[in-house]
Amino acid sequence: MKQTCAIILAAGKGTRMKSNQPKVLAQVLFKPMLGYVIDSCKHSQITDICVVTGHQSEMVEQYLDGLEGNFTIVKQEQQKGTGHAVICAKEFIESHRGQDVLVLYGDTPCLDNQTILEAHQLHQQQQNAITVVSAVIEDPTGYGRVIRNGETVEKIVEQKDASLQQLEIQEINAGVYWFAADKLLCALQALTSNNAQGEYYLPDTIAITQQQGNRVGCYRALCSDIIRGANSRRELYQLNEFMRQKVIDKHLDQGVEFVSTDGVYIAPDAVIGTDTVILPGTILKEQVVIGEHCSIGPNTLIQRSTVGNRVTLNCVQCYQSKIHDDVDIGPFVHIRPNSEIHHHVHIGDFVEVKNSVIGAGTGISHLTYVGDSDVGKNVNFGCGVVTVNYDGVHKHRCTIKDGAFIGCNTNLVAPVTIGENGYTGAGSTITEDVPAQALGIARARQQIKEEFSTKKLAGRKKKV
Ligand code: UD1
Ligand code: CA
Repeated sequence: MKQTCAIILAAGKGTRMKSNQPKVLAQVLFKPMLGYVIDSCKHSQITDICVVTGHQSEMVEQYLDGLEGNFTIVKQEQQKGTGHAVICAKEFIESHRGQDVLVLYGDTPCLDNQTILEAHQLHQQQQNAITVVSAVIEDPTGYGRVIRNGETVEKIVEQKDASLQQLEIQEINAGVYWFAADKLLCALQALTSNNAQGEYYLPDTIAITQQQGNRVGCYRALCSDIIRGANSRRELYQLNEFMRQKVIDKHLDQGVEFVSTDGVYIAPDAVIGTDTVILPGTILKEQVVIGEHCSIGPNTLIQRSTVGNRVTLNCVQCYQSKIHDDVDIGPFVHIRPNSEIHHHVHIGDFVEVKNSVIGAGTGISHLTYVGDSDVGKNVNFGCGVVTVNYDGVHKHRCTIKDGAFIGCNTNLVAPVTIGENGYTGAGSTITEDVPAQALGIARARQQIKEEFSTKKLAGRKKKV
């Protein structure tokens, strides 16, 4: 296969989005549209990518900085058309002479790598100078129409430049092209803005390159969904709904159960095992892996986390953490980043775990905060335990060894260690280590004052 590179056009302002951020950063299922396009390139083995930016270029650059891979960023100061955008990337094309250049838009997240690769195959087979990707759609209004000449394409006519007869054509330009780099450079030199919109049209390279004696082919996409994009918030919402259903359908086909899909949003990269049930209100953001026979939801949000098999998460928020097999968590639990919950742990209502390891078989049943702690196996937390991990300046860790029993309403002032099978008395504020098997108790002894309320509450009114 020939060496390849890509130019992504992402300079558009997206005025109708009414946003302060560039359109390509608008999110579909928690990921910027540009991210989808870049992933499709990467899945097509294209690693050399040039992104043409315009409005709020810095924001796009910042986003690209956070991604894996090397990107060439070119700024198009004034948006003078798709052809002009590619002219801005001239140096990039020159440094890829002899290669095939894919040109596509940063705001078409449904374009898949199959389309990219099959179009490239055709491009190579037919030894084309340009292979344009087309789609056949019901309502072609607004798109460039493909004027065919049998196998080859004569030209593309934009809506505003088309005759009534041409407007009838339903095969449209998808805005995705493979170019032979050298031929592209030649065609760009001859590009003019002599048309209804006074723009440099990239599709004009088609007629130009044929006049220069080269062949232009057309790959018709198998499904017109590849052109889906969003120009307004309303369209963005519709695109989210479309992708949402597509992702859910995929999981249904793979044996995941949905009782109802109300409020269920699953990022496209989520992996979910068979026989797992997803309940309403479940949101799975990026990098989530869930095992088999789990029950997730209702109202559960997971991000960048791995969940084992036979796990129940009921009203849980879980970030950047790992949950092993046979764990049962919820309702109303917050698992904060860098936590690891080992197998057969039970975590009950109103518990927060942060940056902690919870050993197998441990129970944290209610109203407890475990932060910056290393907890062993088979530990029992009574109700209302707090690890006091922050002294206002520094964070410290608590260590709770296997089999320990932490009495209700214990404060564990870190750094502190509870030894194996150690015990703390209810209501204790533990500031010193408790040795193995020992009881740590730190509270005032109870006093009784006889007949105290007889005088004190003598005048109290009772409601019933
Ligand atoms: C373009 C095509 C049309 C095709 C349609 C498919 C042209 C002249 N027309 O039309 O044949 O059917 O796409 O969607 O190419 N962009 C820049 N800089 C610019 C102008 C555009 O980066 O100066 C980017 C935009 O951000 C956008 C993409 O190029 O991502 C397409 O631009 P847009 O103006 O939407 O093209 P269309 O008029 O829809
Ligand atoms: Ca308490």
